[in-house]
Amino acid sequence: MISDWYITALFLLILQAISCSNGLSMDYYAFSCPSAESMVMNTVFQALNKDPTLAAGLLRMHFHDCFIQGCDGSVLIDSTKDNTAEKDSPANLSLRGFEIIDDAKNLLEDSCPGMVSCADILAMAARDSVFFAGGPVYDIPTGRKDGRRSRIEDTINLPQPSFNASSLIRIFGQHGFSAQEMVVLSGGHTLGVARCSSFKNRLSQFDPTHQQDPSLDPSFAKFLSQKCLAGDNTAVAFDASPNIFDNNYFNTIQRGAGLLFSDQALFNSPMIRGLVNLYSMDRALFSFHFQQAIIKMGLLDVKEGDEGEIRLNCHRIN
Ligand SMILES: *[C@@H]1O[C@H](CO)[C@@H](O)[C@H](O)[C@H]1NC(C)=O
Ligand SMILES: *[C@@H]1O[C@H](CO)[C@@H](O)[C@H](O)[C@H]1NC(C)=O
Repeated sequence: MISDWYITALFLLILQAISCSNGLSMDYYAFSCPSAESMVMNTVFQALNKDPTLAAGLLRMHFHDCFIQGCDGSVLIDSTKDNTAEKDSPANLSLRGFEIIDDAKNLLEDSCPGMVSCADILAMAARDSVFFAGGPVYDIPTGRKDGRRSRIEDTINLPQPSFNASSLIRIFGQHGFSAQEMVVLSGGHTLGVARCSSFKNRLSQFDPTHQQDPSLDPSFAKFLSQKCLAGDNTAVAFDASPNIFDNNYFNTIQRGAGLLFSDQALFNSPMIRGLVNLYSMDRALFSFHFQQAIIKMGLLDVKEGDEGEIRLNCHRIN
């Protein structure tokens, strides 16, 4: 069984390397900017050495970017007087690390001006964050162009914390992901925190009807109720090791201590509970499947040629 998925992965990687149908390739910057990958990695590692919690921010930013209009750096764009950008959606709360992307971009503009897209920098930074946190190490194809659209209303297509398993399967399915890949990508919550505003409706004291979410472990509910007295912005970690890319997230939801309704929903669905159990027992398998799924995510609706540009400043369309 191990050799089966190993061979499949190898096959996929080779396919990606030789078929450039989406304009991407491995080592895309080999000639135009040979130090691109190492410059991004050094910038990310320096920042994460100071503040390891930013790994979660960068991973989440890549996810938001790819799910809305494809992996085109649209999440990095600032609002203008005529346009409210994705960044200013209420769904942006956990996005952090914009300054890391800016630092990497500035370095790259100094050494190879106009060559490396913001979308690629973000994809590389997310990859490096996963590795820094103890997750898998993998190569990604590059060559993404930056998009020219970033609208707050598009963020309606992000998965919501209130989603049940069927809604999660549906929205990930719209992007070509299987239920298994959805579970694996949800495992990205092994890093980071969520705010009380995203889950307090599960607690009786904050729910107008005083109903507690029955899928919530009672002692965990008590802990959360205490925490959230401090206000909507209070952050709580998804699992006990929020800066380490491990499989603790799956053990946590097995115990009924999933932070968001959408986390706990994975275990509560008889259809996909088996996958939660599988990944809770096998960190290496989770790591490997995550690597495959995130590479696939990084290819969502990438812009090629004139569909995009190389932004000079990641905050603004050229
Ligand atoms: C998120 O959006 C709010 C407004 O909804 C804005 O004030 C805040 O600066 C945004 N956060 C980021 C990181 O851009
Ligand atoms: C999941 O949520 C959708 C949308 O709110 C709802 O229509 C559906 O009945 C729910 N499914 C289950 C199994 O609860």
